[in-house]
Amino acid sequence: MTTKAHISVLADPYIEALCTDKDGRYIDATFGRGGHTRLMLEALSEKAEVLGLDRDPEAIVVGKALMKKDKRFHIAYTDFAGIEDAACELDWSEVSGIGFDLGVSSPQLDNAERGFSFMKEGPLDMRMDFNAGQPLLQKLEHVSESQLADIIREFGGEKFAGRIARSILERLKAGSLNTTRDLEDVCFHATPKKKRHGNTHPATRTFQALRIWVNDEMHQIDQAVQASIKLLKAGGRLAIISFHSGEDRRIRDLIEKEVHGCTCPREFPMCVCGFKPSMKWVQKKPVRASEAEIEANPRSRSAMLRVAEKLDMSC
Ligand SMILES: C[S@@+](CC[C@H](N)C(=O)[O-])C[C@H]1O[C@@H](n2cnc3c(N)ncnc32)[C@H](O)[C@@H]1O
Repeated sequence: MTTKAHISVLADPYIEALCTDKDGRYIDATFGRGGHTRLMLEALSEKAEVLGLDRDPEAIVVGKALMKKDKRFHIAYTDFAGIEDAACELDWSEVSGIGFDLGVSSPQLDNAERGFSFMKEGPLDMRMDFNAGQPLLQKLEHVSESQLADIIREFGGEKFAGRIARSILERLKAGSLNTTRDLEDVCFHATPKKKRHGNTHPATRTFQALRIWVNDEMHQIDQAVQASIKLLKAGGRLAIISFHSGEDRRIRDLIEKEVHGCTCPREFPMCVCGFKPSMKWVQKKPVRASEAEIEANPRSRSAMLRVAEKLDMSC
């Protein structure tokens, strides 16, 4: 099997925004194959340290190899719920920056056995951590048609979510939904004939939605932002790259709450909640890939980078 190397997206703006203290401690919470981590280590001094995290055991193997080569690097096997514990294991109470590059890596997509891709025949799995949780096929056995339609609509933005959900569950009941190719075939045939041959394959949005569901990715984003805000030191940066508008909106809203502070209704003459802003935006609008980057790496087309900075809460 040939696997494509993962090309790190928005590398320059991400590293520039994140690594502002050359001697600092940083977390790369989505280590993947370590593309961004290596760039961080290059940009930082000999005194700096980077902790890589990933919930994928295959990424951890790569991380352990890097740990042997570079004494400034540490790796931990966890999802975003374990960020604070992983930092605590190293006795880190605060860090200079935390970065996230959400979604799946190219090696995850390319390995048919992981079940992420409709381009290859594989099991209906889609778990980033194959040691935890339920694979897609098992989850489908316990979902109702309306729940499934909501998932496909909300996480995939799929117009034909209702038809696709019905077809998936019919085929599951008939015992002929076993592989990623079967699922691709269901999505194709549940899409109206006139809409089957556009720029995007009819299975793209459903596969994305089901992956987000299997890995509880929206809830993971909430945990990522909350933990990061706690761990950042004053002036420390949070940089998050996401790949679809639902994720980006969630990230924007979570950070905006911290930027805004006060939660009192507008009509109140003065603040009674006492909630103070803890973050400020470094760029108000998300950074997008340049035309040149999109040409070199089409995956970067949908990438959006948001950067915020922790405020000094002591004054
Ligand atoms: C897009 S890849 C990151 C690629 C990496 N930045 C690079 O340059 O090689 C995303 C990685 O984050 C991991 N990941 C995604 N969501 C995660 C989560 N909630 N907790 C831990 N790891 C996660 C995936 O397993 C995957 O390896």
